[in-house]
Amino acid sequence: MTPRERRLVRDSFPIIREEAGPLSLLFYGRLFEIDPALRPMFHGDIARQGIKLMEMLAAVVNSLDQLETLTPVLHAMGQRHVAYGVVPAHYAMVEKALTWAIGQALDLDSNAEELSAWRKVINEIGTVMKDGAALVEPLSQGDQ
Ligand code: HEM
Repeated sequence: MTPRERRLVRDSFPIIREEAGPLSLLFYGRLFEIDPALRPMFHGDIARQGIKLMEMLAAVVNSLDQLETLTPVLHAMGQRHVAYGVVPAHYAMVEKALTWAIGQALDLDSNAEELSAWRKVINEIGTVMKDGAALVEPLSQGDQ
């Protein structure tokens, strides 16, 4: 990511935080529209789940200049997601729904520069989570 993209993400985060409630609802609504089969994977309260997602995004935004410091956290998160039943193919759908919801919260066109900066951040998070998941998957399969 370029310094400009990082700035666009950082500057827009306060609005996203303010809109956290509606944004989460938009995100899950869009996700379950893209693939209704994902709905049963979520057992907890969607609002609480949205708060966790926002906390996670806040940590990422705070560390944008040294995202590698979050690698262990993101790897562990990717590994927890394997236990939730998440497979790599799910990530593209989540990334799409989340980027779309952010665009709605910020009232952006789909080709806006700010949105493409956010898309990069979300894709990067997903990539590191998948890397983390891949580190344990072969081991757990071997254990069975
Ligand atoms: C950009 C990628 C993603 C981010 C930032 C993210 C973030 C989170 C966070 C912060 C949690 C809270 C629990 C924890 O930290 O372990 C969580 C839980 C969860 N996530 Fe994700 N996630 C991502 C990708 C996915 C994908 C691809 C799926 C597949 C559908 C998924 C499904 C779930 C489920 C099922 C839970 C548990 C919910 C429950 O217990 O009800 N996530 N996610």
